[in-house]
Amino acid sequence: MRNAQVLAPTHLPVLVSEVIQGLAVQSGGRYVDCTVGGGGHAAAILERSSPGGQLLGLDADPEAVMIARETLAAHRYSIALVHENFVNLRAVADKCGFYPVHGVLFDLGLSSFQLSSDARGFSFQRESALDMRFNPEQEATAEDFVNRLPEAELAHLIRTYGEEAYSHRIAHRIVEERPIRTTLQLARTIEVAVGSRRRKIHPATKTFQALRIAVNEELQHLRIGLEQALDLLGCDGRLAVISYHSLEDRIVKQFMQRESRDCICPPAVLTCVCGHRASLRLVNKRVVTPSAAEVRANPRSRSAKLRVAERVDGDNEQCRANDGAGPGIVGGAFSEN
Ligand SMILES: C[S@@+](CC[C@H](N)C(=O)[O-])C[C@H]1O[C@@H](n2cnc3c(N)ncnc32)[C@H](O)[C@@H]1O
Repeated sequence: MRNAQVLAPTHLPVLVSEVIQGLAVQSGGRYVDCTVGGGGHAAAILERSSPGGQLLGLDADPEAVMIARETLAAHRYSIALVHENFVNLRAVADKCGFYPVHGVLFDLGLSSFQLSSDARGFSFQRESALDMRFNPEQEATAEDFVNRLPEAELAHLIRTYGEEAYSHRIAHRIVEERPIRTTLQLARTIEVAVGSRRRKIHPATKTFQALRIAVNEELQHLRIGLEQALDLLGCDGRLAVISYHSLEDRIVKQFMQRESRDCICPPAVLTCVCGHRASLRLVNKRVVTPSAAEVRANPRSRSAKLRVAERVDGDNEQCRANDGAGPGIVGGAFSEN
């Protein structure tokens, strides 16, 4: 594997103080960073939870894990870093004996080093093979989606995951141009399809987003990851999620709203039959966004939205069960792996 430092332009973590405050990070606390990336948030959490804080960090991208390992070297006795998709969060936490926890963070999307890599295919401004996988061990790449899907399915994908108004036009043009092998070839194809219709963002922005979401099954994994995160939180534990586009944010918002209600029966049902009990309390009623100063300093933060919720006990057996320490955490060895 290549040297992490050569690969890694700085990734500036977003909303760092808001995340620390949102998670109510405390000395000796146990935290899970589901998207450890370059380790920026993880470092801030470990500093604030010192002495005694511990962090389990996951990333689907092995290069990210390598970079985080370097960033977090000073905390090596307080961390476990795992190359794993957060869709397997519960299994990872089980294996590490790392539950219940005081906080779980998801900082979704991709990092600067992934976006600016000449090999990963995430950017429509850099020539690269059409890859877009977070995990290079996974089989399907963006090239497979672009060249193999029937036109109607491709249009549907671009429409659904990119919220792209010109999805049919773009899909049609892509099918005419096949085979498409590189990012710039795809970007040019989209530019021709969209013509001069759009001015505010690059015409390829939404199609690239759609392909990345489809290749990595991002929305399905987010739904599952959030459910599993809830299971790991001890009473009063906090869940913080930073999203970067409306599809992600809608999933996070709806999940937190549903889990903060005692009944989720449809409005037409007058007497509750669902038996659902609230397991979360919304910490901020409104979404938290970066300040103007942060956006100036780090333009990539401009679309970030942070939502935070706290685990509540209520009638919830799971939360009470979580109140006792899980195996291997208190006083247990928690070493690098
Ligand atoms: C915005 S970056 C995180 C940056 C990090 N918070 C920091 O401070 O450096 C998002 C990271 O999430 C990872 N990722 C995206 N989806 C994932 C998933 N389902 N499971 C695990 N990691 C994922 C990406 O590989 C990327 O490294």
